Amino acid sequence: MAASIVKRVSRVKKLNISHISARYKLLTGFRHFSTSKQWNKALVLGVYENESTDSIDFTGTARKFDEKADGKISQLLLTVKKPLKCGKTRTLHAVDPEFSSVLVTCIGKRGEGYDELETVDKGRESIRAAVAKAVLQLRELGENEIEVDSCGDTEASAEGCHLALFSYDDLKAEKSRKPAVRISCATRYSQDKNCMEEEWRKGAILAEGQNLSRRLMEMPANLLTPTKFAEIVKEQLADKCEVLVRDKDWAESMKMGSFLSVARGSVEPPVFLEIEYKGRQSDSPLALVGKGVTFDTGGISIKPSQGMDAMRGDMGGAACVAGSLLSVSKLQLPVHVKAFIPLCENMPSGSATKPGDVVTAMNGKTIQVDNTDAEGRLILADALCYSEQFNPSLILDMATLTGAIDVALGAGAAGVFTNSDDMWNKLQKASVRSGDRVWRMPLFNHYTKKITECQLADLNNIGGSRSGGACTAAAFLKEFVNNKNWLHLDIAGVMSNSGDVAYLGKGMSGRPTRTVIEFINLMSKETKN
Ligand code: BES
Ligand code: ZN
Ligand code: ZN
Repeated sequence: MAASIVKRVSRVKKLNISHISARYKLLTGFRHFSTSKQWNKALVLGVYENESTDSIDFTGTARKFDEKADGKISQLLLTVKKPLKCGKTRTLHAVDPEFSSVLVTCIGKRGEGYDELETVDKGRESIRAAVAKAVLQLRELGENEIEVDSCGDTEASAEGCHLALFSYDDLKAEKSRKPAVRISCATRYSQDKNCMEEEWRKGAILAEGQNLSRRLMEMPANLLTPTKFAEIVKEQLADKCEVLVRDKDWAESMKMGSFLSVARGSVEPPVFLEIEYKGRQSDSPLALVGKGVTFDTGGISIKPSQGMDAMRGDMGGAACVAGSLLSVSKLQLPVHVKAFIPLCENMPSGSATKPGDVVTAMNGKTIQVDNTDAEGRLILADALCYSEQFNPSLILDMATLTGAIDVALGAGAAGVFTNSDDMWNKLQKASVRSGDRVWRMPLFNHYTKKITECQLADLNNIGGSRSGGACTAAAFLKEFVNNKNWLHLDIAGVMSNSGDVAYLGKGMSGRPTRTVIEFINLMSKETKN
């Protein structure tokens, strides 16, 4: 969101702010800056971890600033004995006439990169975390314009700042909201300013996509109904993508009996979104599919009430698809993407599906619904079948599908089930860059047997026991896919952040949006897509 803050400021100056409707502000998190506001400028500089007590290992940009300030920054840092450790900061005031605060943040050891066991680029992750901490501290100090060191990786630096400054406080009183902050890259000493600006813009757009996912996931389910989700997606993507909003009659005509069996318990009408981004002409688009349960009560197999509010985020797969498309289209990646998003509520009512009911999916397979809380796989079954009609070169689905994946992996990584080693390698490569990790899980026949042993129908929607719950869910989805390049991402474990990721605040995470954007970027380099 903050990625476009600077641009929006100039637009706001031209517009009469009062004409911008409260509704638009509520839905988009639109913020404006008062023109009478005093700018409090601050600077973030990076240093590497260094044992020496008589020298500072500055980044290139930080060294230039120190030289310009006649070495005042290094002098002040060296007045205390203890060198800065990774993730720690020092805030200096009155060192430069232009900035009220200069915050020095430690970005870890010089030269740190890919860590094989951790499957992450530690250098990039340290930069994201270090600048995130810095900008949040400066916002607390009342600074509202911050220039940030690229820290040797401009894209990661931009990602860290823009992700950290996100907060969903649209529904709070003005005085309780986080103040808006203008953020930019410290390019003035760069050899190639344009290149740096371009990298910064890319990082900001990656973060903007994830922030859209977070905002959609965080929105309460009474405001974010299937209909409203479609409206927001149209508003966000319509100028770059074609957005088709299909209704219940359409889903009936497509014989999506599995999807409709979930929607029938709610008074909110279901919606099936079909989105197309054509960054290139091709007959075989990349297909994205996202679970869009805007609230999951469990249906007749109702969930316990404790923590049920989190089920407003059960459209996390759909949100990540929308967020990914926003970034892919803003980056104008040369790729053809088609997205399919089934949206509905899972509610108990007199018209809800009952345990033991049998429904028929679009491909004709019959399903015995023994647990109405295993609804994600039911709506995805039809969406996956439908996506196959477009001759996709790959199908990637994302879903907050099972509590079992959270038991298995926690928030450490999204679980990935795929029939393609090549796709797996590319997705993992993308996740190393994004820092938002993935971990491969099995698609053995062992799990398929659990869902094909069924009394009344071709398939049962649950595996019979709790064991391997994420794997039986994936095995169920496999029954609806023929594509040789299929990836299913179970993102229930990474749905929210409770402090594990330093540069994401607490709340809905929008993970793994940036990994998927990077993956699409990698795929766009292959000519056939
Ligand atoms: N939406 C849930 C999965 C979930 C759990 C998402 C925790 C995010 C956080 C899903 O629809 C569900 O309820 N799955 C059941 C499946 C079971 C009935 C086989 C589960 O995981 O318990
Ligand atoms: Zn459920
Ligand atoms: Zn669910």
